[in-house]
Amino acid sequence: MNKMELLNEDKKRLWHPCSQMKDYEAYPARLIERAEGVWLYEAGGRRILDAVSSWWCKIFGHGNPHIRARINEQLEKLEHVIFANYTHEPAIELAQRLGGLFSDRLPRVFYTDNGSSAVEAALKISFQYWRNRGRPERNLFVHIRGAYHGETVGALSVGSLGLYRDTFKPLLFKAVEAEGPDCYRCPFGLNRTTCDAECFTSMENALEENNGHVGAVIIEPVLQAANGMALYSPRYLVKLSDACRRSGVHLIFDEIASGMGRTGKMMACDHASIVPDIALVSKALTGGFLSLAAVLTNGEIYDAFYTDYTESKAFLHSHTYTGNPLACAAACGVFDLFDDPSVLPGVLETGSLIRDKALAIADHPHVGEVRSLGMVTAIELVADKRAKEPYAWKERTGYRVYRKAERDGVLLRNLGDVLYFFPPYIINGGEIDFMVETAINAVKYVAGK
Ligand SMILES: Cc1ncc(COP(=O)(O)O)c(C=O)c1O
Repeated sequence: MNKMELLNEDKKRLWHPCSQMKDYEAYPARLIERAEGVWLYEAGGRRILDAVSSWWCKIFGHGNPHIRARINEQLEKLEHVIFANYTHEPAIELAQRLGGLFSDRLPRVFYTDNGSSAVEAALKISFQYWRNRGRPERNLFVHIRGAYHGETVGALSVGSLGLYRDTFKPLLFKAVEAEGPDCYRCPFGLNRTTCDAECFTSMENALEENNGHVGAVIIEPVLQAANGMALYSPRYLVKLSDACRRSGVHLIFDEIASGMGRTGKMMACDHASIVPDIALVSKALTGGFLSLAAVLTNGEIYDAFYTDYTESKAFLHSHTYTGNPLACAAACGVFDLFDDPSVLPGVLETGSLIRDKALAIADHPHVGEVRSLGMVTAIELVADKRAKEPYAWKERTGYRVYRKAERDGVLLRNLGDVLYFFPPYIINGGEIDFMVETAINAVKYVAGK
């Protein structure tokens, strides 16, 4: 089929994720034929810079030869096998490497096949832990405002973004929402780099009011990615970890977006030097080659499930592609690349180049904030800079910037009125210039000079 025929078939048959399909009338899907490094190549030869790492997973760029070779090598031997009662080398090697992320303090690995399914598994593990330990009344989960943990029903229940959640509210289970950090519009008038997480009081109250009934707190450490790349102080996590320990509540860190080097540390929780009870890793785990996620737990949690079958305490949860060998081999390839000690310093160096360049738009009358950590830089657009007043959502300001930048060769998919750079770590200086300048021009085009 030629390009036009393919796009006609796409229009006729496909339902794309997170999309109002009617928008495709004005902007048909872009037909990508191949990709390399930071570049996506459309049928017909035009190229687009992937500034969002294709939904945050392509940390080493498209087509990384080492990851590809690890997959190919595995493909010659074993592409898939049932993971109940059977195992294989890539799953074992990867479990060793994952354990190393948390100094072997989360030694147990439960594989799932995407981020949301890892969240579901983690919630169920914590829930069942309390039942297995004879404390079924500890059945509440606490999350913070602005939380996003995926879009399956359990994950939405501990999320708070109305855009994804409101329609499905009647389906969701009850959870407790604490006010989280909101550093751009800090109600205490403080600064995220110098504050003492004064906003933690709301979480403290939530834990106290529900004392004895909370099983776990789930949180994205330091970076709430889907919430407009909101960044907050690691102090909040230190306070949270202390409070969870005091009240015997599990602490679940969702590192699905923030992990694997994105914030300049291997795991975002390293900014606070904290190891949770359960951690979730996905997205960048395979360098964006294949779908895989891991739920890591401490030994104490695992032990609550380990007994004779007839006690009915096993974790009876499964997905067909659990521990897929090709995906595990890809993830091992990613860890091989992290063995190079220059990768994380490189993330910081490249991230600061992006931040410094993006700061050129900070004084624009409709730029509320330029915020940055590691290899994430976000530009939040507002209607009124002084009042920090957002644009009316129906204006779709961020979306219009995204479309303009895309016409000019940069994929900058917006989160509401937040535009952000979340590129592969291997982006070079010339590509950074092109990416940021194109974005700034698009902001000026839509929001005025
Ligand atoms: C923090 C976080 N948790 C969970 C998820 C869900 O992952 P997936 O899209 O693979 O289901 C996402 C996806 O963006 C995420 O950012």
